[in-house]
Amino acid sequence: MRVLVTGGAGFIGSHTAEALLASGHAVRILDGLMPPVHPRRVKPWIPPGAQFLRGDVRKRRDWEAALEGVDAVYHFAAYQDYLLDFGTFFHVNVVGTALLYEVAVRRRLPLRKVVVASSQAVYGEGRYRCAEHGACFPDIRSRARLDRGEWEVPCPQCGGAMVSEPTDETFVNPQNQYALSKHAQESLALRLGHQYEIPTVALRYSIVQGPRQSFYNAYSGACRIFCLAVHHGRRPVVYEDGRQVRDFVNIRDAVRAGLLVLDRPEADGQAFNVGGGVPYTIMDFAHTVIKAFGADMEPEVTGEYRFGDTRHICSDIRRLRALGWEPTESPEQSVAEYVAWLRTFPRVPDVLAQAARRMRRTAVLRRVADRSTA
Ligand SMILES: NC(=O)c1ccc[n+]([C@@H]2O[C@H](COP(=O)([O-])OP(=O)(O)OC[C@H]3O[C@@H](n4cnc5c(N)ncnc54)[C@H](O)[C@@H]3O)[C@@H](O)[C@H]2O)c1
Repeated sequence: MRVLVTGGAGFIGSHTAEALLASGHAVRILDGLMPPVHPRRVKPWIPPGAQFLRGDVRKRRDWEAALEGVDAVYHFAAYQDYLLDFGTFFHVNVVGTALLYEVAVRRRLPLRKVVVASSQAVYGEGRYRCAEHGACFPDIRSRARLDRGEWEVPCPQCGGAMVSEPTDETFVNPQNQYALSKHAQESLALRLGHQYEIPTVALRYSIVQGPRQSFYNAYSGACRIFCLAVHHGRRPVVYEDGRQVRDFVNIRDAVRAGLLVLDRPEADGQAFNVGGGVPYTIMDFAHTVIKAFGADMEPEVTGEYRFGDTRHICSDIRRLRALGWEPTESPEQSVAEYVAWLRTFPRVPDVLAQAARRMRRTAVLRRVADRSTA
């Protein structure tokens, strides 16, 4: 097949493009080489053998050129992280995706598949259970609670303690600008895909880990943030109390999931979780990073939190398993690979402090009130 990979100079996109090329497909990449992932003067990773088009998914003309003659599309290009330019999230992630379908429908392009990269973020706090009131999908934690350092999510009915449960694909509850834009993106892709007979699949990735996750971007991504800190000899900073839970998936497993749905019609019209399915605390993960570097230090709990962050989320991956997919790599393996990759660079920029300053300035990163100096 002739396959277009948007965001193909980025982390998941470049690995996907490589895997497609290795499977005998012809690959075209559309990527705007956007900062901070692609700073000026740093050569981007473009898989050899792929055709590269520099363009912006917000521009119809760039879609027209990129979609010409292709059979399938992987749409990875996106605006991410915790910044406050809300409009940009929707412009890139939602309008950009609408333009894909607009061009495909208007030009009657015979697309055989569109795979859109969505995110576990669409679940917000995900699924919880209260012993008395059963399953629920709570809203974002209030700022007042967070300012008091009350990290856990209380039952919305009785205020009592709840336990977090693996979250399947049936209910979404997006809570921040990124999550809202990703949910709008996948909804319009699945709906327009159905309406105009463009087979479409949405993949909701958990935290994907592996080489090429840009170290120029330090706004999100526990693996790169912790690795950057330890690489520069500093203790990794863990937000909240470090007991928050996530699941992690290795880039090779994530790429296999993407390739699997390419020729599986039974996947069409659906969203799938692509995760590790195993809950890890962020504190344990920080220790994994420290161990991978062979460093002698402890993670640092500063009493800061990122407003809009989820407390616990772990994906239920049974739907994708039923298609024959299974994650095979552990977070320890992913971290080891990232560290090995990082060490191939003679100079790794220390961008953490700058990113943290910007998040503090915009009140994304906040301190519990009783320790506040802000
Ligand atoms: N990495 C993860 O853990 C993760 C988790 C959940 C979802 N996702 C989703 O997967 C996709 C890929 O993520 P990634 O980690 O590879 O990101 P990345 O930042 O490494 O790559 C994204 C690429 O898209 C390009 N891009 C951004 N805006 C663009 C625009 N307007 N026009 C054209 N190109 C543009 C960038 O230049 C970059 O090369 C995204 O849609 C993201 O939302 C990623």
